[in-house]
Amino acid sequence: MTATTGSTAAAAGITAQGLRKAYGDKTVLDGVDLRVAPGTIFSLLGPNGAGKTTTVQILSTLIAHDGGTAEVAGHDLAAEPDAIRRAIGVTGQFAAVDGLLTAEENMLLIADLLHLDRAEGRRRTAELLERFELTEAARKPAASFSGGMRRKLDLAMTLVGRPRVIFLDEPTTGLDPRSRRTMWDLIRDLVAGGTTILLTTQYLEEADQLADRIAVLDGGRIVAEGTADELKRRIPGGHIRLRFNDVDSLHSAASRLALSTATRHDDELTLHVPSDGSVSAVRSVLDILESSAIHAEALTVHTPDLDDVFLALTGHGSGAAPTDAHGTPAATVYGSTAAHPTAADPTAVNATAVKEIRR
Ligand SMILES: Nc1ncnc2c1ncn2[C@@H]1O[C@H](COP(=O)(O)OP(=O)(O)OP(=O)(O)O)[C@@H](O)[C@H]1O
Ligand SMILES: [Mg+2]
Repeated sequence: MTATTGSTAAAAGITAQGLRKAYGDKTVLDGVDLRVAPGTIFSLLGPNGAGKTTTVQILSTLIAHDGGTAEVAGHDLAAEPDAIRRAIGVTGQFAAVDGLLTAEENMLLIADLLHLDRAEGRRRTAELLERFELTEAARKPAASFSGGMRRKLDLAMTLVGRPRVIFLDEPTTGLDPRSRRTMWDLIRDLVAGGTTILLTTQYLEEADQLADRIAVLDGGRIVAEGTADELKRRIPGGHIRLRFNDVDSLHSAASRLALSTATRHDDELTLHVPSDGSVSAVRSVLDILESSAIHAEALTVHTPDLDDVFLALTGHGSGAAPTDAHGTPAATVYGSTAAHPTAADPTAVNATAVKEIRR
C-alpha cells in the first residue's frame, strides 16, 4: 500500500535532464535540468526571453525538443506524449478563452473536448465557476470580462479535466494586486489538493510567496536553484541603514559602530552596518547610538530578497543595466557590496533592476 502510494506520488512530478532547443542557429534552451516533486509548486523565474515559455511548451508536448529527456506525470516525453497530455493541464501565457462564448460555454467546450459525460461536464463546470466566483458572470460573453476574470476562467478551464500536473505560464501577469492574490489562493488550494504545479513568472514576490522551490532561468540555462531562503542566503548584503541629519552625527556613529565593516556614504548621510536584521542586532545598534547621544533620523533594515538574487544572477549587461563608475554591471556591484565600502546603495540598485525586468 505504501509502495503504491509512493509510486503514484512519484509519477505525478516532473523531471527533465539536459533539455535543449534551438530555432535556427539561436539556442533557446541550453541543457535545462528540472526536478519538480509531486504535490509541490516549482517556479521558473527569468527575464523576458529566458526560455520559460519554451520550457513549458516542450514539457507540455506542444513543441518538440532537440535534445535531453523528460518525464511528466510518470510518462516519458518522447515515448508517451499522449499519456502526458491526458495527465496535464496548461494555462498559457496568453489566455485561451474564446471571447464570443460565455464563461459557461467555454467550460462546457473543454468538457466536450475531453469527452466528459454531459452531466459530469455540467456538474464540473458549475462547481468550478462557483469556486472561481464566476457564477454571476457565467452567462455573459467572455469578451466582456476584465483581464482578471479572463485569467480565472482560463485556469478554471484548465481544471475541468482534473489534471495532476499543471503548467501555469505567467498566470498573474497584468493582474491588479487583489486579483493576483485571489489567483495565488486558488493556486495554493490546488497544491494542497495534491496537484503538482510548474509556474513561470517574472514576479519575484510571486515565486517567493508560492514556490516550494525556484529555478532561475537566464539565457536558456538554469543559473540557480533552491528554496527562496536558500537563494537569498547565497547573496551577501544584509545591513541596517542609518540616515543622519548632519555629517558630524554620521562620523560619530561611524566611529562607534563596527568600525571595520560599516560603510559610510557621506553624500547621502547614511551608514550601512552589516547585520542579519534580527531584533537583537537592531537593538544593539540603537543602544550604542543612544549611549553616545547620537541622533539618527531614520533606520531601515535591508535583508537580501529575491530581487537581489535575481539581479545578482541575471543582471548582466542589457546596455540599460545599472553599472558602477567603472562600468561593472550592477550584479557584480551588489555581490561585492559588503566588501567594498564605496559600492552603490544596493537598495537603489534593486529598484532599478525590478523596473528592468518588469518592463
Ligand atoms: N517560434 C520561435 N521562433 C524563433 N525564436 C523563438 C520562437 N519562440 C521563441 N523564440 C525565442 O526563444 C527565446 C525564448 O523565448 P520564450 O518565449 O521561451 O521566453 P520567455 O522566458 O517565456 O520570455 P517572456 O518572459 O517574454 O514570456 C526568445 O529569444 C524568443 O525570441
Ligand atoms: Mg513567456
